[in-house]
This record gives sequence, C-alpha cells and structure tokens, in this order.
Amino acid sequence: VIERKVDSVLNLMTLDEKIGQLNQYSGNFAVTGEVTDTKSGEYLKKGMIGSTFNVFGADHVRMLQEQNLKYSRLKIPMLFAADVIHGLETTFPIPLAEACSWDLQLMEKSARIAAEEATASGVAWNFAPMVDISRDPRWGRIMEGAGEDPFLGSLIARARVRGFQGIDSYKDFSKPNTMMACAKHFVGYGAAQAGRDYHTVDISERTLFETYLPPFKAAVDEGVASFMTAFNELNGVPCTGNKYIFQDILRHQWNFNGMVVTDYTAIQEMVAHGFAKDLKQASKLAIDAGIDMDMISEGFVTYLKELVEEGQVSEKQIDVAVARILEMKFLLGLFDDPYKYCDAEREKEVLMNPQHLQAAREVAQRSIVLLKNENNVLPLRKDIPKRVALIGPFVKERESLNGEWAIKGDRSKSVTLWEGLQEKYADTPVRFNYAKGTSLPLIDGATRHVSLEQGFDKSGFAEALRVAKTSDLILVAMGEHYHWSGEAASRTDITLPGNQRELLKELKKTGKPIVLVLFNGRPLDLSWEAENVDAIVEAWYPGIMAGHAVADVLSGDYNPSARLVVTFPRNVGQIPIFYNMKNTGRPFDENHPADYKSSYIDSPNSPLFPFGFGLSYTSFQYDNATISSQKLTKGGSLIVSVDVTNTGNVDGEEVVQLYIHDKVGSVTRPVKELKGFKKIFLKKGETKTVEFTINEEMLKMYNINMDWVAEPGEFDVWVACNSADESNHLEFELID
Ligand code: IFM
Repeated sequence: VIERKVDSVLNLMTLDEKIGQLNQYSGNFAVTGEVTDTKSGEYLKKGMIGSTFNVFGADHVRMLQEQNLKYSRLKIPMLFAADVIHGLETTFPIPLAEACSWDLQLMEKSARIAAEEATASGVAWNFAPMVDISRDPRWGRIMEGAGEDPFLGSLIARARVRGFQGIDSYKDFSKPNTMMACAKHFVGYGAAQAGRDYHTVDISERTLFETYLPPFKAAVDEGVASFMTAFNELNGVPCTGNKYIFQDILRHQWNFNGMVVTDYTAIQEMVAHGFAKDLKQASKLAIDAGIDMDMISEGFVTYLKELVEEGQVSEKQIDVAVARILEMKFLLGLFDDPYKYCDAEREKEVLMNPQHLQAAREVAQRSIVLLKNENNVLPLRKDIPKRVALIGPFVKERESLNGEWAIKGDRSKSVTLWEGLQEKYADTPVRFNYAKGTSLPLIDGATRHVSLEQGFDKSGFAEALRVAKTSDLILVAMGEHYHWSGEAASRTDITLPGNQRELLKELKKTGKPIVLVLFNGRPLDLSWEAENVDAIVEAWYPGIMAGHAVADVLSGDYNPSARLVVTFPRNVGQIPIFYNMKNTGRPFDENHPADYKSSYIDSPNSPLFPFGFGLSYTSFQYDNATISSQKLTKGGSLIVSVDVTNTGNVDGEEVVQLYIHDKVGSVTRPVKELKGFKKIFLKKGETKTVEFTINEEMLKMYNINMDWVAEPGEFDVWVACNSADESNHLEFELID
C-alpha cells in the first residue's frame, strides 16, 4: 500500500520537486513566521526542502510546516529532525555515562522519554543513537557513544533504537510518540587517527567487521529507520561517497531499505578530502554511493538536475532516494496529518514533567561509577557529625552538568552538587564549608584552543587550603568544562585541565582524607589521583538532576552499581588501550617481568581502571564457578554458572560478566571478549546463582576467509566482576 502511495506522489513530481526532497537545511528560514530571504528561504518558496532540523516547539514547527505546505505544489510535508541525544528538555546523563549502567531497560527508558518529549515538540526524526565504537579517550565524541566494546555496544544500540523509535512492530510509526532513529556515523568515526576529530580512519576490513560494524548491524536488526554518514574517510574513501559501505554492506549485505542522510556539509567536504574536484562531482559521488539526503551542502539541490541532464546521474537514482524519503513521510503519517508531531497540549504535559525528572535522577544515579573507596571513606553518612570542605570548580558549577548535546536542556535548571548536598544533608550533623579553589579552563571560541586566561590562576588556593584544614574530610569536585568534550573537542593531554591537579596536590598535604568527584566526558588520566586520593567518584556529566544524583550516591542512599564501558589508561601514551586486545608473540606478564617482551619501559601495560570495573559500598564474592560439560558440540549448548554472594553490610547490585577466549584460530583472536552479562540485585548476605548459556553462535568469528564461523578447538571462559578479573576460569572444547 505504502509503495503505491509513494508511486502515486512520485509520478506527479517534477525533477526539481524530487531533488528538493533530498535537500535538508537547518531551520532558520522562517523564524518569525514569514519566509526570509535566506538561501534556504528561497528553496522553501520553490517547495524544495525535504527536511529541516534543530527547530523545536509544537507551535514553531507547526508554523514552519504551514509555510512549507503553502509553497509545496503537491503539499508534501516536511520532515523535522533534531539531535536529541540524551533528552530534549529533561536532560539525562551523557550516553557514555548511561552505558556504564549496563542496564539496557534503563537506557531504553531514557531514550523513550527523550522521544516522548521530542515528538510532542515537533520532532519526527532523531539523529541518534550514535553507535560509534571508540577506544580513544582523546576523541571528544567518545562521550556520545557506548564505549569500546562491540558486543555491549550492539546491545545498547538496539536498546536505544527501540527506545527512540517506540514502534511495536516493524515500520509501524503510526502512534504520535513514535519517531525515526538514526544510526550514526557510518562508519569508523570513533577510530580517527590520534583521536583528532574528523581525522583519517585507516583500519583493516577485519577490524571494521569485528569492531566497528556490529553496533550498526544491530541497529538494522532492530529496525532503525535511517543512517547518517561519517565525516571521515575510510581506507582512502570518504564515507559520504563510499559505495562499499553503503551499497555493498548496508544495502546489499544487510538489506537496509531506510533513508541515509549525510552528516553536516559532508558532501562538500569530499572536495577538501581530495576525493572530488568540486561540489558537483562530490554530489555525483554521494548519490552514486546511495545517499538519499544532503544535509546542508546544497550539492544535490544545486547540481543533481544538471547531472541528470548530462546523463551522469539517472533520474531513476533520484527516484530511489525520493521514494525512500516519501515512504518515511507516509509511514510517519505526515501526509495524513502534517502536524502530527505538533501537539502543544501534549508538549505542556510531557516536557520536564515530574516523572521524567525522577527518571533522569534514577538514570544518573545508575550511571555514576565508584572507582576507588579506600577505608570506606564513602558513603558520607548523614547521622555522624562531620565538617566537610567542599572544594573545586564543580561544586557550584551549573552550566556544564548537562554535558554536550543537551539540545534543549536549559543549563540554568540543572541541580548543582552544592544544591544536591544542601538538600540531602539538611537537618543532619554534617556541615559544609565551601571554597572554589580554582576555575575551569575554557576553550577560546575564536581559536578553538584552551584559553589560558582561566583555570591557571592560583589565587584561590589559599582559601581552599584554609577551608580544608578546618575540616574532617575534603570533598573535591573537579573535571572538564563541557565544551572540552563533544564534537571538535579532542585533547592530547587527558589529565584534569588547568591547575586542578596542582590544587589537589596542595590539599593532599593537609593529610585529610580526600574524596574526588569527577565531571567529565571521557576517560581521564587519573594516575596521580588514583594513588593519592581516598575515593574517586566518576559522575560524568549527569544531566539536569546532577546534584541530587551525586548526593544520592555520596550519601549511600543509592549504592553505586555502574561499571566502566571504556578503559581508563594510566597515561596518554597507552592509547589505544582496550580490554579485548591481541596477545602478540611476546606477551608480557606483569607478575614475571622479562626483557624483550611486548611492554613499555616507563609504564605498565595494564590500564589504570579496566573495562567492566566499578565498586560498590558492599562487596561480592564469586564461588562454585562450574561448566556443565568440557565439550560443546556444534548446535548444542553449555551452562556456566557461579554463585554470587553479597558479603558486605548493605544491599547492592553486581554486574556479573562472561568473557570468552578462543585459544587458537585460523586468525588470532582477542585475549578475551565479552559475551554476556547479568546485572543482579543482592540483599546483604544474599547469594544468587547466575547462569550463562554458551552456544556455537556466541563463538563465531570471521575466519581467515572472512566467513562467519565457529572454529572447533579450545576456549577459556571467565565469569568475572570486570575484564581484568581472572579468578574464576573455566575451559571447554568445541567439537565438530
Ligand atoms: O547529527 C549531527 C552529527 O552527529 C554531527 N554533525 C551535525 C549533525 C546534525 O546536527
């Protein structure tokens, strides 16, 4: 039926009208109600804009749609898109933080709430989730993904697509709170050389298939409606003109038949890449690669007609792209009701409603990772008198708490740590004394470099030391200003910016216990901090309820349960560092050091904090790890089980992780790979048996011929509390 509807419109369209559907602008053409003289305004008047993005508000979008329909001869509705990455107005923690919850239902829920708000506010298409794997904390956009692991990243990709789209069955976008998701950025964006944003990506086909493609494939399997191209080149070919990834892999191998949009000006950028001599050639390369929509470059709208007239591009190619776009507009119901997503009443009800704020607090609590807690300095109890020095630029910092991509999150509404603690410890014998100590270094907008004017001055140190000396405990809140991560915010030094570490060193001299709470968008080099402070709480950017959620964790009202989804290196020189690396022919054993092994002379190989790591206020013990058989036949299955006991004094949650290692392969295999996990809640003293099923499917890999097979042979298995924990080791053999 939809096909017939699409054809019936397509048949009536002129070539100009078709090309217009492939044209996407950011929405600045009718800000006050009348179409302005901007270039985009001119195209709108010709009915030549298929989609626009980053305009919000039921009434505002309605007005823009009215303008569009006034000028569109065939009354083709415009598709409104936006980057609703971690909430619309109710800002959730940054995606990297949320991923640390290892809680797929929670992530689905936060995506759903984001979609509930966005779809009431005019938005039908979300440029999310970003499913790029990244193993490079220098890269600023690592904050936007799900970390370093393809297995976990794939599950999270699916959860987020499910949450954003909200569809009950394949392609059923009939409900007013459903929307299109977009898997981005296809592909390899997180592997930019040296962590510099937009930089060259040169990876083997094997690495592409094993590491970077799986979350995208998972998104396709979950029914994602659209894809976005990556800015980078991949092995010599910019992604936006890359037939191999879009035609061969996405369309033919994966049978994806949704829409593909470019990233911002990415067609134009193929000229700077040195892949096209001008925008016209770049446009041809993009349409040939199977790209449907041009974001901002104006390449399609300027040159496609000429290219058709010259016979360089066929009208059929354009029809295919237009059909995909029209299909989505039909599926979304926009032809029946172009204002479907402009429900001012619903908008009032849903934006930042109390349930959404409560959910944001809960997600934030569950995203906070406790990295160190010497002598149980935390939790900070509410019933014991204590003088606490609150020091650091993040104690009262508000605007950074939402992190980057808080698209409509009102930064003035985020709850600061100071406010969270005041509320939490009101009417308790805990007293706080504040000194800022130093400020956060900023980025100079003009030069895009660190501004040396702020964050380096030590004039606040004396006051901080005075406050520290009269306290029983020093609680320090430090991190990166939010502009220090996200797009185009790569770093070569991933220590705490400015003189924050220097201030910590001064505070250390007081001899008082120090709790460090961190707000940042990437793994940091915390080598000095991990040695010298008593507790470290990685709060990331927790979103609008930041202060409350961090206070919940500090006080023990919420027992931290998050685990890292990305490795924290000891120093920048170890990058790239990730848990599922290869062994080399000369593996180095830190317990039995020897010369001429694969190691550094000035740093251990091991990370500071491994993937999967995180502490709790209680402790867990693993006993009786068993495997149901030492032999697995193809088509059969094995059960691995372990008893997990909460041996501490409070209830808590543990993430039980299953790692597998294929000992010998037709190609070498990673030292271990995550293949399963279960997040369980245990009351104090309680024991639960956790079971995992292992089958042939889980052992599959790309063999020497790039066939997806499980090779017979021996395997190691670990049930572990993190990727470095090898205390519960089992073995089995896969037999033909
Ligand atoms: O969706 C984003 C993309 O991730 C980065 N460039 C801009 C796009 C639209 O805002």
